[in-house]
Amino acid sequence: MSEPQAAETEASGRPGARAAARILFVGDIVGGIGRQTLLDCLPVLRERYQPTFIVANGENAAGGLGITPKNADQLFAAGIDVITLGNHTYHRREIYPYLDSNAAIVRPANFLRSQPGRGTAVVERDGVRLGVVNISGNLYLRAGRSAFTEIEVALAELGEVDHVLVDVHAEATSEKVAMGWHLDGRVTAVVGTHTHVPTADARVLPEGTAYITDVGMTGPRGGVIGVKREQAIASLLTHMPVRFETSDQDPWLMGVLVSCSERLRADSIEQVLMPRPAPA
Ligand SMILES: [Fe+2]
Ligand SMILES: [Fe+2]
Repeated sequence: MSEPQAAETEASGRPGARAAARILFVGDIVGGIGRQTLLDCLPVLRERYQPTFIVANGENAAGGLGITPKNADQLFAAGIDVITLGNHTYHRREIYPYLDSNAAIVRPANFLRSQPGRGTAVVERDGVRLGVVNISGNLYLRAGRSAFTEIEVALAELGEVDHVLVDVHAEATSEKVAMGWHLDGRVTAVVGTHTHVPTADARVLPEGTAYITDVGMTGPRGGVIGVKREQAIASLLTHMPVRFETSDQDPWLMGVLVSCSERLRADSIEQVLMPRPAPA
């Protein structure tokens, strides 16, 4: 169904106004195999869903840990509008200046203010403005400030936007579920990342916010959350240091598609779980 673009744009300042968009969110891209899986899946997903925006979590893009400017450039060149990050943001030093200079890559907004980068981004396409917020959970993760207080600062920073997607990068399901309820009716979508395992709770909450506890990862399903399974098992068996490498077994793209017709509201959220297409 096509919508009259001019009417959407004119009306976009009001709550409940028309603001049609489809937002594809892609879970943590793990290593070169994850990046290649994204590149191989995107043409199919573009045709199938015709996304207005594509947002991807890139915190594991560089060999499983962190992201380099070259990785980020590759993702942007593939058509990713905004890259979100997480606890592995600072693993690669060469990304630090890039985080300060590139407005379309965000790290958790509740990191310390002194840490490189920013926590929010706004992009515009087809007359629709999308705000993206990255926020980190506080349980078992090192985030300098509270997710639940800093989210307010981050949302205020976005200004006038038609849609808001929040990537809540957290270990604990409880924190993510609570953030979903906390923001229900105030943002378009709250999507969880970090565990690399997709959850079965995707739904639109009563006030119109799309929610999922974890979208999963874009990477090798045949490993242990991205790592070669024999190495992960050896580490757990021996309690001795083991060098971790990214698995190349059974790569999948995992994410969600959020469809919207009204400002700051989701009509639906659909899981996207797609094996990497076989080479032609
Ligand atoms: Fe991750
Ligand atoms: Fe993470």
